Amino acid sequence: MQLTKFTTFGGCGAKIAPGLLDKALCGLPRMVDPGLLVDFSTSDDAGVYQISPDTALVQTLDFFPPIVDDPRTFGMIAAANALSDVYAMGGRPVTAMSIVGFPLGTLDIEVLGEIIQGALEILREADTPLVGGHSIQDGELKFGLSVTGLVHPREVWKNNTLAAGDRLIITKPLGTGTINMALREGRAHPEAVEAATRSMVQLNRRAAETIRDFGVSACTDVTGFGLIGHASEMVVHSSLGMEIDAAGLRILPRAAEYVSQGLTPGGTKNNLEFRGPLVENLAELRDCTRGVLFDPQTSGGLLFGVAENRAEECLKALVSQGVEACYAGRVIDVPGKIRITGQIQG
Ligand code: CO
Ligand code: CO
Repeated sequence: MQLTKFTTFGGCGAKIAPGLLDKALCGLPRMVDPGLLVDFSTSDDAGVYQISPDTALVQTLDFFPPIVDDPRTFGMIAAANALSDVYAMGGRPVTAMSIVGFPLGTLDIEVLGEIIQGALEILREADTPLVGGHSIQDGELKFGLSVTGLVHPREVWKNNTLAAGDRLIITKPLGTGTINMALREGRAHPEAVEAATRSMVQLNRRAAETIRDFGVSACTDVTGFGLIGHASEMVVHSSLGMEIDAAGLRILPRAAEYVSQGLTPGGTKNNLEFRGPLVENLAELRDCTRGVLFDPQTSGGLLFGVAENRAEECLKALVSQGVEACYAGRVIDVPGKIRITGQIQG
């Protein structure tokens, strides 16, 4: 089975370019409701709605075309990716519903069974039952989940509440977009695909549970808009900025090599166009550095801020839990801007 042969875009790389999406959404009226704690206006990972003094709902939906060829693995990745937005808000997922677009003409219906089986394996790991869903016939295969979680209204991790002096940590290596591109072109080394897959099926649950003890100031997960795209959302309307240490980032095996060979997904270009202008020293960056920093991620890690004096301990705790975390940089006093230090070697 080669699912990626049947689709034009894979994983979160299929997202509509952020600038384009803004065009459609910017003039729309927002509904005022006292229960609404987080809505779409801050590009956060999920909506948050308070239902009692100590409980709020976290609601999110994510679906996309296959990023790998095996149906069960695709289901696992789609589930881990969808659940991630709840973890990124500091929430605990409680229920999930599936959303399916299925090409009956090209694929056997048993493929859908395998995809859902994969999703169920991850949902079980997340202690989150699948309670229903909706399926339609579609020209291309798409699968994902809508996930509902719970969080204490005062313990929501927003994306735009970084504090001055914070260290930034990211909990997964980068490069799933370019590896998917190499896979589509039949140029991906099994080692790269294997490492990317292992990373994409990994739930952000353990990472989220670990960092909770260290006082997270702000959090998001790194998906289709790439590291800089999601980092931008954390500082764009803020009086703070961030410095990203490119040389210190963890990168999946061969991902930098593929970027250097020009295997850049369309999403990279979109991400660069939209958020490139926020990067102070964009012109100084080598192509490889740019390619990795703007590479669209599928089921990527959490990117969060933590106070400088807790950062080392926090990173150690993550690594001891088997999380492939590393420092991503620090919060600096340059309002709404991102500065990159170091380069990535291809
Ligand atoms: Co997200
Ligand atoms: Co999402």
